[in-house]
Amino acid sequence: MRKIILDCDPGHDDAVAIMLAGLHEDIELLGITTVSGNSYLENTTRNALIISEMSGIDVEVYPGASKPILREQIVAHDIHGYSGLEGADLPNPKKAASNIHAVDFMSDVVKENFGEVTIVATGPLTNVALFALKYPDLVKGIKELVFMGGGIAFGNVTPVAEFNIYVDPEAADIVLRMDIPKVMAPLDMTHQAAITREEVQKLKDSESKVLNVVADLMNFFMKTYKNVFGIEGAPLHDPTTIAYLIDPEIFEWEDLNVSVELKGEFTYGQTVADIWKTTGKEPNVRVLEKINRDKFFDLLLDTLLKLS
Ligand code: BDR
Ligand code: CA
Repeated sequence: MRKIILDCDPGHDDAVAIMLAGLHEDIELLGITTVSGNSYLENTTRNALIISEMSGIDVEVYPGASKPILREQIVAHDIHGYSGLEGADLPNPKKAASNIHAVDFMSDVVKENFGEVTIVATGPLTNVALFALKYPDLVKGIKELVFMGGGIAFGNVTPVAEFNIYVDPEAADIVLRMDIPKVMAPLDMTHQAAITREEVQKLKDSESKVLNVVADLMNFFMKTYKNVFGIEGAPLHDPTTIAYLIDPEIFEWEDLNVSVELKGEFTYGQTVADIWKTTGKEPNVRVLEKINRDKFFDLLLDTLLKLS
């Protein structure tokens, strides 16, 4: 059982990550922390509550940063809609979010489970960076950090910058300097994990109302990907992080030195990966390069279909 905190900004693919983490028996989901990203913090928090309640996942939600450390806030309404989770009729959440701040919750959990907690981050890295700044002595108590973010060959907000990194590059820079095992799920890999119409249909055909809602959400997500990028099928970026923890053999990776461009006129927010080791710097992150998409979708759908 992997003990994790899921730090997220739901978000359609974050929503699926919550479900995979909360429903798979190999993962112990200790709490969900939220950050502004795909939408405003109020919305991402509300969406985390809705998704976990709707899926019968008993977990508290701890709101964190409502804006990036230095930069102006950016949201992804073009991809996820105004609420951050458009495309389905969603119920109102019954429970309220905790009044403990995400970063303080992380500190409580790491103190109690020193060296045993994995943080999975599927939104901008603001909360994780703030945790490192506020509780530097606890950083080494994190077993591993697995994050979705960055791109090696391409970006999705600019030609070279990916959304989660572009929103708060200073936070990403702080996080990449944290001296703990880190795993990065970049666009190069997550674009191999695009959900197809047939897979969405399997959810739609299930008896479960919850999975019908997930299918509606996925249809919306596919539509915006088609409109914005001209891509058929929506990449399920965020749940790949959870799949890595459940079954790392689905992936191929390389340990690389990666840094974040904070000043570039054209390259601001880029994750610069030293593939040919030209900098002489030690690798600081494991970069997931390939995914066996069929095994990934078997794992994901088998887990979700338990709800039917
Ligand atoms: C990332 O940005 C968000 O829109 C998604 O939820 C994912 O975490 C992909 O660039
Ligand atoms: Ca996300």
